[in-house]
This record gives sequence, structure tokens and C-alpha cells, in this order.
Amino acid sequence: MLRILLACFCLILGMGLSGPSRADAAYQVSSPDGRLTVEVGSSFGEATYQVSRDGKPVITRSKLGFLFTNAPKFDRSLRAIAQETASFDENWDLPWGEVKTIRNHYNELTVTFEDGRGAPRRFSVTFRVFDDGIGFRYNFPDQPTLKEVRIGEELTQFNLAEDGTAWWQPAGEWNRYEYLYHRTAIREIGQAHTPMTVRLNSGLHLSFHEAALVDYASMWLRHAGGTQFVASLAPSSRGAKVVRTAPFSTPWRTIQISEKATGLIESHLILNLNEPNRLGDVSWVKPYKYVGIWWEMHINKSTWGSGPKHGATTENAKRYIDFAAANGFRGVLIEGWNVGWDGDWFGGETGFDFTKPYPDFDLAAVAAYAKQKGVRLVGHHETAANIANYEPQMEAAFKLYESLGVDSVKTGYVADAGGARFSDGKGGIVFDWHDGQEMVRHHLRVVEAAARHRIAINTHEPIKDTGLRRTYPNWVAREGARGQEYNAWGNPENPPEHEVNLVFTRMLSGPMDFTPGIFAINPTQPGHRANTTLAKQLALYVTLYSPVQMAADLPEVYAANPGPFQFIKDVPVDWSQTIALNGEVGDYVTIARKDRASSDWYLGAMTDENPRDFSVRLDFLDAGRAYRAEIYRDGPQADWKTQPNNVVIEQKVVQRGDVLRVKLAPGGGQAIRFKAQ
Ligand code: NOJ
Ligand code: CA
Repeated sequence: MLRILLACFCLILGMGLSGPSRADAAYQVSSPDGRLTVEVGSSFGEATYQVSRDGKPVITRSKLGFLFTNAPKFDRSLRAIAQETASFDENWDLPWGEVKTIRNHYNELTVTFEDGRGAPRRFSVTFRVFDDGIGFRYNFPDQPTLKEVRIGEELTQFNLAEDGTAWWQPAGEWNRYEYLYHRTAIREIGQAHTPMTVRLNSGLHLSFHEAALVDYASMWLRHAGGTQFVASLAPSSRGAKVVRTAPFSTPWRTIQISEKATGLIESHLILNLNEPNRLGDVSWVKPYKYVGIWWEMHINKSTWGSGPKHGATTENAKRYIDFAAANGFRGVLIEGWNVGWDGDWFGGETGFDFTKPYPDFDLAAVAAYAKQKGVRLVGHHETAANIANYEPQMEAAFKLYESLGVDSVKTGYVADAGGARFSDGKGGIVFDWHDGQEMVRHHLRVVEAAARHRIAINTHEPIKDTGLRRTYPNWVAREGARGQEYNAWGNPENPPEHEVNLVFTRMLSGPMDFTPGIFAINPTQPGHRANTTLAKQLALYVTLYSPVQMAADLPEVYAANPGPFQFIKDVPVDWSQTIALNGEVGDYVTIARKDRASSDWYLGAMTDENPRDFSVRLDFLDAGRAYRAEIYRDGPQADWKTQPNNVVIEQKVVQRGDVLRVKLAPGGGQAIRFKAQ
């Protein structure tokens, strides 16, 4: 009892940014608006932090620390010995994005901890507190007592002050990030990937994630009972989960905090915690829309591998190029063009050749044809996560593409989690995780090599996005969740709530190459379908942000549906403003975005399996001008189950301040272009 009283007394003494004179101490820092406060300190040998909002606890006292495989842990004999504070406020511009300018405004506190056992060893933790949440990271200084840092586990805790509802995906399971989202009580979470979104019983929304995941293992969140979570790093074949040489800093652990669910969508905390652009002039990175030899393989109309159904033939490629040129698409993706797809290619058994086309695909001729038509090929590197096979070929592969005018490449890592193949440096192979430290390093090697050839990268089966597009603006998009492809062959396909889950979870990490725009909805192929209405497929272009957006369906399907196809032709992929107008996690959402290249605004609204009927005030439109609203909405009979293709296209003149009634069918959506007059 006496110990507890003493500890409280010391904590109170240590508050208010005054230096501690005792073993137990606490420092604090608040957000610029004063509403969020973080307290960091030590008591009874433990380093801890806690977070409150308007004086109410959000994260109760939670531990900081590490286990090492080559040194005693940082855990029970820690003492806060020093603090430093700073403030920062700056606007910065994105070369491309969902907004043009972002304000990076925070107060910072760095607390140094010393381990009292044996020869002194130190680390510090830097907290940045923004109005929309917090980020913190560990710093390992250059010190002789801990030079080579072999991390067995990170001990960071996240102890939630209350229970609530969580939207999450299991981590450490075979299908990487491609699970359906679970909606459970916080107490029922197992081990989750981030971003993990929760709504506390008091109504507050939080998203747990990380920023700037560089040369470190990905953080999973392990449920440790009650409302308590502990970091769990993705494993490594080397034993230690992370191996680094000090000095270095870990990625930022982030908690975005918002009263409303829509606040999470408008938060730029993850990007703000990343380093500025490291590539210099990136005007060569172009947002674009694309079509491609892709969906036809997923619906089993053609094959990636060679043979009579081979999709990537010279002739078929020219057909797609013609279609792209006629309809204003910049890109044409061609998958299955290179040798390696025959046989059991999943998991890297066959070993792809990244410079050798199949004999029925004349790469040079196709590239020349594209150039003549004013279209760019989008390259494809399916590595099947055989890194040992890919990395030695990477330079030659990017060089070849660059010589052909290809300035963006989609990569792929199809293999079960834990099945990525790396060279052991001795002629053998070791297996690693898609989100372990080795893979994190690999992805940056790819992005840096691609940048040297002025090539943008869109990664499938990726490492999760942690905002590195700020530092490497050629890393334009990723998959990293179940995309449209599951509607071609998934068992089950994506349910009607899937996309409204994505907006409040996966999408908080960054752009997703979801590949919207399937019009041949039911069936997509025998026995499979998309569980949306057609209007919802259009809404996805606005609600699921990406600077690269595919028109995923077949050219002949679009040719047969010129009405709705017009929206896909019109919708931009680069925006100056984004406003989340309404929404609840996993239920519905409405987002408005302003085109970077014109005064036009666009709106996308979508729902889960429940119909919605609400009004939206057009307060976002520029004042003093009329807009022609080109509306693509669910028709009166529309229903994802029975009448997915029932869409109404209509126009009306509107202006700022008007109120628009939005009715969404079950599994439905609505897309609007506001064309400035
Ligand atoms: C999985 C990717 O997500 C998909 O887009 C691609 O077509 C296949 N892998 C083959 O690379
Ligand atoms: Ca995939």
C-alpha cells in the first residue's frame, strides 16, 4: 500500500514537464488542441505510457519494453531519467493523393529510460501527439552495451480503458491479409493485423496501426485478456524477430482517435509520421486508370499459362490497347506474358523468368503498338514470393521495361504466409513471413530499384501499407486485403459489407488496388458473383482511394454498357480534397472528393446488405457556381441479391447548399459527378 501511495505521489510530482528527481517519474505532453494527453514515465522499474482524451482515460497504463535474444530484457529495472520536448507545425504537398496539402501539427515528448542492472543501457521513446491521435517509437542509441540489437519480442502494450466493438483480421494465419473482417467485442479478438479499428462503448473510434515500417518486423496485436493488447512481431527464420545495429529507431506505433467514424478517414496521421520524399523529382509518377488482360483469367475464360487458352497473346494485347486508346485509359496491364506460369507456380516452385516472354507474345511489338496508340503497358512481375529467384533478375527486368516505355509495374507475392523463399547465402533456401523483417527489406529494395528506372510499383500480396508512399512516391498502391478477384472465385465471395469494412480498416493504411468496375455481376463465372449492385461498383472508384484504378471487367462488357461505363471514363484518380460526409464502420459511407485537374467534385456512397435513405447537404461544392450532377444510382428494384444491374442514370443542376436525397439499395451504392458549369 505504502509503495502504491509513494508511486502516485511521485507521479504527481513529475507531471507538467518538470524534471523528475526520483526513481519514479512521469512526463506529459498534449495535442495542439489540448484534448489528447499522453503521460510517459516509470514506476516500480517499468516504463509505461497512458493516453487520455478530455481528461478521460483511453489507454490506461501500458508497458513499454523489449526482449532480446542476445542481451537481458528491457522490462523490470527501467527508470525514466530525462525528457525533451518539441513542437512542429508545417503544411506539405503530396505529389499525388486524396488531398493536395496536409497539415503536420504535433507536440513531441522524448523520454529516456535507463536499465539499472549491470552496465548502464539506455533507450528512449518519442511520442508525437496530434489532434487526431498519437504515434510513438523507440530509439536505440549508439552504445557499447547494446550495439547489435537482436529483438526477441517487443513488449509494447495497448490497454484499452473500456470494452467495445472491433473490426479486425487474424494475423499469423496462412492467407496473409486476405480474410473477411471480423466484427466482435474487443474481448473476443485473437491476434489481429493492423490497422485494427475499434469503437469503444463510449462511442470513441480508434484505429491501431504503425507508420514507416522500415527494416523491422510488422507488428501484430495479440489479445492478452480483457481489453489488453500486446505487440507481437512477425517471426523470422533467423530466430530473433528483428536484427539491427544501433543507432536506429523502430516504426511508429499509432493510435488514431476520433469521435466520429468518418474522422478516421480524414486523418493523415500515418503519412505525417513518415519521412518526406526521398526520391527528388517524381513528376514521372503518374496516377492512371487502366484496363488489362486480367479478369478474363480470374473468371477462367483464359489462362496465365501457355496453351490454347493463353490470355497474353500479341493479338489479345492489341485488342486491349485499342480499347484503352478508344476510351482514354492510360494503362494496359498484361499478366501471364512471361515464362514460368506453367505448372504449380504458387509459392515459387516454378521460378519465373522476368525477361523472357512466351513465344505467342511479342513484347517488343506490343510495346511499340501501345506507344503508337498513346497507351502505356503496365508491367507484371508475379514473384510467387520466391525472392531468391526474383532479386537476381530484378535489375534486368526493370531495365527491359524501362527500355520499352513501361513506367509502372504490378508485382505479386502469391504464397502462403511463412512461405516466402530467401537465399540463405550458402546456396540454400530459408522460408520467411510476408510481413517479417526480411520481406520488409525486400520491398524497399524493389521500390528503390524501380525508382532508379523511373518505374512505379503496385504490390499485390504485399507488406501492409504504413505510409511509405510519402518517402517513396513511386510506391503507388497495393492490394493487402481481399480485392475484387474474390468475386470471381472466392469461397465465399466478398459479402455486401466487405467494402464498407475496408474503408474504415484497410484503407486507413493507404491506397488499395481493389480493381473495381465489374458490370457482369451475376454470375461473374458459373457459381460465383459480386455481392453488390452495379451502382456500388461505380461508387468504389470514389470510396476506395487509389492513384491507380482498374476498369476490371472485359472490354466487351463495357462496350455493351456505355451508360454506366461513362462514369468510369470520367472519374479522376488524383484529388485535391477529400471529405467523409457520413458513415459508420462496416455499415455505410459517403465520401466527396475534388478533382485535382478541374473544378469538378465527385461523390461515392455505399452500404452493406441494408438499404439506406439519407440526405446529404452539398456544402462542399464551390460557392457561386452551378454544377451538373450526373447521378448513377440504384434503381427502384435494385438489390444486390435479385437485381444488381438495376441502375438509373439521371442529371440535375445543383449548387452549394442544396440537399440531395440519397437512397441506397441493399448492397447498393451511388456515384455522382458534379460537373462545374
Ligand atoms: C494475385 C493478384 O492479386 C492478382 O491480381 C493476380 O492476377 C494474381 N495474383 C496472379 O499474379
Ligand atoms: Ca491477391
